[in-house]
Amino acid sequence: MPTSLPSRPVIGILHPGAMGAAIGSALKARAGAVIWADAGRSHATAKRAELADLVAVPDVAELAARSDVIVSICPPAAAREVAQQVAAGLAGRTDRPIYLEANAVAPDTVRAIAELLGDRAQVCDGAVIGPPAWQHGTTVLWLSGPGARTVADLFDGTPFEARTLDGLGTASGLKACFALQSKALPTLWLALEEAAARFGVGDALREELTRTGVEYSAALAGARERAVTKGWRWAGEMEEAAEAFAAVGVPDGFSRAAAELYRRAADRR
Ligand SMILES: NC(=O)c1ccc[n+]([C@@H]2O[C@H](COP(=O)([O-])OP(=O)(O)OC[C@H]3O[C@@H](n4cnc5c(N)ncnc54)[C@H](OP(=O)(O)O)[C@@H]3O)[C@@H](O)[C@H]2O)c1
Repeated sequence: MPTSLPSRPVIGILHPGAMGAAIGSALKARAGAVIWADAGRSHATAKRAELADLVAVPDVAELAARSDVIVSICPPAAAREVAQQVAAGLAGRTDRPIYLEANAVAPDTVRAIAELLGDRAQVCDGAVIGPPAWQHGTTVLWLSGPGARTVADLFDGTPFEARTLDGLGTASGLKACFALQSKALPTLWLALEEAAARFGVGDALREELTRTGVEYSAALAGARERAVTKGWRWAGEMEEAAEAFAAVGVPDGFSRAAAELYRRAADRR
């Protein structure tokens, strides 16, 4: 059965990080209100929410009680905990809001969250590919499973281009594959730099790579910079990508190694 929404739904964003603020802002035109939950969030998140003109409610329980659509968009490692908080907040509600699980998590995590929410919410799988979108043409929101078409309609005419796939978890499977290229592959440079340093051959390796036409310095600098600024979050995403690969019988070592290298970069900050 297609999921239906009020013509001006209340949309709750958990939480207005860089991506959540952009999604919240994009949905304002279609929503009756876009709300966010203040409790426990940093000044940076509050500021982003204010700039995106989102309405603050005290906490996740209040947001869960009021929203027709709840968007989970937080660090991937926190996705289950956010869903647990929402499940508690939905107790006592008789209707069934849509829960958009938009994080970079494994398909099995999406299915576990759907099980956790049970008949309290209709879970839709989502995966964002591209940066926080403030203009059209940069970012696609992939949606799959029940409610995908309904959620896609909310994004019509927004900077996020919504595309749908069949089956709960499919959007997250796509994201895990994409992330192997965008986040695991660059950690190759971090691994070989670290190993070369330990062998005492850092300069010789740089010389050999440059001599053989490899753009080592630029690739390493890019990978290092991203690892230092985003490693803490990407480690969790790489663990989720590893779960995704393992579940379909594909070796998960690339993603596990990337997760470890991102953890090391974050610890060195
Ligand atoms: N940014 C991108 O380019 C991009 C691209 C594609 C997909 N995504 C996906 O979007 C999601 C969020 O990314 P982002 O860039 O918006 O991250 P972000 O800017 O770091 O924001 C994360 C948000 O989650 C909150 N948060 C932090 N720790 C939390 C916890 N333990 N439990 C609950 N909430 C927590 C943060 O609040 P505080 O301020 O209080 O810490 C903040 O509001 C991720 O799943 C990511 O994979 C991001």
